[in-house]
Amino acid sequence: MPTLSIELHKDLRPFNTFGLSAYTARYLQVADEAALQEWWQTQGTPPEGLLVLGGGSNVLLTRDFPGLTLHMAIRGQEVIAEDDRTVLWQLGAGECWHDSVLSAVDSGWGGIENLALIPGTVGAAPMQNIGAYGVELKDVFHSLQAFHLPTGHIHTFDKEACRFGYRTSVFKHEVKGQYIITRVTLRLHKAPHVLHTGYGAVAEELALRVPAGQSPGITDVAQAVMAIRRSKLPDPAELGNAGSFFKNPLVPAAQHSKLRTHYPEIPGWPQPDGQVKVPAAWLIEQTGWKGKRLGHAGAHARQPLVLVNYGGATGQEMLALAQAIRQSVRHTFDIDLEPEVNVV
Ligand code: EPU
Repeated sequence: MPTLSIELHKDLRPFNTFGLSAYTARYLQVADEAALQEWWQTQGTPPEGLLVLGGGSNVLLTRDFPGLTLHMAIRGQEVIAEDDRTVLWQLGAGECWHDSVLSAVDSGWGGIENLALIPGTVGAAPMQNIGAYGVELKDVFHSLQAFHLPTGHIHTFDKEACRFGYRTSVFKHEVKGQYIITRVTLRLHKAPHVLHTGYGAVAEELALRVPAGQSPGITDVAQAVMAIRRSKLPDPAELGNAGSFFKNPLVPAAQHSKLRTHYPEIPGWPQPDGQVKVPAAWLIEQTGWKGKRLGHAGAHARQPLVLVNYGGATGQEMLALAQAIRQSVRHTFDIDLEPEVNVV
């Protein structure tokens, strides 16, 4: 049996894309399910709590963590079934999401090309049902395996059991804190592919790249998405950030109409349930925060929904910025922005 190597008082700075320093009392890198089982049988969750980190791309560390950090590093990419049209592709939770997108595209499997360059690991993707440019993880999701902390058993969740919604799943609500995702299986499609190119920026970028009269393929879509993201979103390797900091809020249709009388240009996307989704980036821009800084933290100049660490910011500084923006938006529009990022 492998022996666990738990490290003490470890700085999590290399493991979060904001690049924030925060010490965890104990740290364990988890390379496979056996390591999880061994940890669970011999030590279990300490009273000070458990922090599960994947790529650290959706977390704001505001303090030192007194408990145990499990850093998920389960690897593996395996086709577990296929037919003429589809493959079922199982990935370890610790695989890099973007590298997996590139591998799928290289293999000629369609379905996740619109999700290129989303930071983070495969295991974190179902947690918040990652999405971009008209596609969400749920569209290609088949099932996942997760370690059940109360019993130490591995359970399988199908798509329905995950209860996916906009940037959410059962793992953020009903069973929050009870499971650690270990493997994810996607159902991807072989050619001919159905492309999702309806999103304005993707269509424009493709028009520039694909000669008139030719049909784009999944590689073109992935490259278009990568170009759009690189032009608008800061690279966490250069400027610490965690993608969108807030969700796009949903407001009642009546409130949206009322706001439109004051702000005729307010965007809004009507939802099937009658509510209207409003771009948080627009709300933030209106309150004057776009490109502004508070200490070492700021709202990005090209996409203000992304909060960035300009270097040397503390977690408390990032949090103060988020709270100030939230307060401005509440004050101006009577809309409460909900963080998309997990605040620890
Ligand atoms: N907008 C502004 N000012 C700006 C930028 C945007 O007013 O400076 C407004 C515009 O009305 C624009 C709208 O915001 O049409 C939407 O902007 P964008 O297309 O950049 O998308 P988003 O809604 O801000 C969401 C996701 C992103 C994803 C993009 C593309 C959320 C919380 N964010 O952002 O996901 O990449 O759509 O599909 O849903 C993430 O979750 O970390 C993330 C980056």
